[in-house]
Formats: sequence, C-alpha cells, structure tokens
Amino acid sequence: MGFALERLGFDPRGARVLLLGAGGAARGAVHALLEGGASSVEVLNRTAARAHALRAAVGGEALRVVETPDPGAAYDLVLNATSLGLSASDPLPLALDRGRFALACDMVYSAGETPWVRHARSLGIRARDGLEMLVGQAALSLKCWFPGRAPPVEAMRAAAVEALDTRAR
Ligand SMILES: NC(=O)c1ccc[n+]([C@@H]2O[C@H](COP(=O)([O-])OP(=O)(O)OC[C@H]3O[C@@H](n4cnc5c(N)ncnc54)[C@H](OP(=O)(O)O)[C@@H]3O)[C@@H](O)[C@H]2O)c1
Repeated sequence: MGFALERLGFDPRGARVLLLGAGGAARGAVHALLEGGASSVEVLNRTAARAHALRAAVGGEALRVVETPDPGAAYDLVLNATSLGLSASDPLPLALDRGRFALACDMVYSAGETPWVRHARSLGIRARDGLEMLVGQAALSLKCWFPGRAPPVEAMRAAAVEALDTRAR
C-alpha cells in the first residue's frame, strides 16, 4: 500500500486522513499510512465495532475511530476502503463537500471513473480510483517473483483497463 500512495503522488508524512471502511483493505491502508508518518488516521465504518477492533489491533495515538468526519477539519486525504462502488446501484461511501478534502482516493476501480471519483471531481476535489493501486501491487508481486526484471507496468495497466472495459460492455 505504501507503494500505492507513492504512485498516487501522496506523501503521508504529517497528513490528516479520513479512512472509510475497516476491512482488509482498510487495515493495509492504516499500516501504510502510519508507517509513512501520517499524523492522524480517522476510521469511519458502518459497523463501529469493526473499526474499534482495527483500532485495538493496530494501537497508537494517531489512529482513532469516528462516527462522522470532523465538521471543522480539513483532510489531506479521504480514502474509500469500503466495497461501495463495486455495484452501480451502491450509494456513495461518503458525500463530500467542497474545500475540505485535498485528495480523494477510491480503492474501488471500474471502467472509466467510479461514481465516487466522479462525485469528488464534480466538486473540484482531486481524485483517483484504485486502478493504480491494483497495477502497483501486481508489479510488486512480479518484482518478488522475478527479481532484477522490471515489470512491464504500462502493458499491465493497459491490460487491466481493457479487461475492465470488456467487463463493462
Ligand atoms: N485497488 C486495489 O488494488 C484494491 C485492493 C484491495 C481491495 N480493494 C477494494 O477495497 C474494497 C474493500 O475490500 P476489503 O478486502 O477490505 O473488503 P472487506 O474486508 O469485506 O471490507 C468491506 C468494507 O466495506 C464496508 N461495506 C460493505 N458494504 C457496505 C455498505 N453497504 N455500506 C457501508 N459500508 C459497507 C464494510 O463495512 P462493515 O464492516 O460495516 O461490513 C467494510 O468496512 C473492495 O471494493 C475491493 O475491491 C482494492
């Protein structure tokens, strides 16, 4: 996940982050963000008990469970690690408002923009979907399997986009 943040051009050092979700993807994100030096990661999850379990497992002062985004806060990153957006009929994981979120990243990916990325961009918020993360983790696996060989990232990204487009047709 650290490499994914890097690929997104996001430097977690000192960042205030709102993390949506508390499943496996969120857990990976929490570790990468805290190891990367985020000053605060606020976890908001539908099932609060799951967010508290994640907080208890990871520990530390920087990780907190919240029920809503802090209305007065400005966040450097809001990250969707829920599975909302996989289905076209899903509600948005969080309705954003203008001027409070510097960057919105959706771990979900789809052909074209995900609905939440579209929503964020419509408000002028910089936004990225999960495709780069998907490609990045595949590239990292290839590097582990074939040390010394550079993974063909462009070809891998193009194949992923083509597969998503085919699936959407
Ligand atoms: N881009 C990538 O490379 C990459 C890598 C990994 C995962 N992902 C994506 O990340 C997403 C989450 O994966 P995961 O492995 O963490 O899944 P998971 O462990 O099953 O967790 C699902 C999360 O989504 C929340 N959620 C599900 N339905 C919801 C709803 N109707 N309303 C509000 N919250 C809801 C769950 O909340 P509750 O705890 O309340 O159920 C939980 O926090 C998936 O969409 C997956 O495709 C992307």
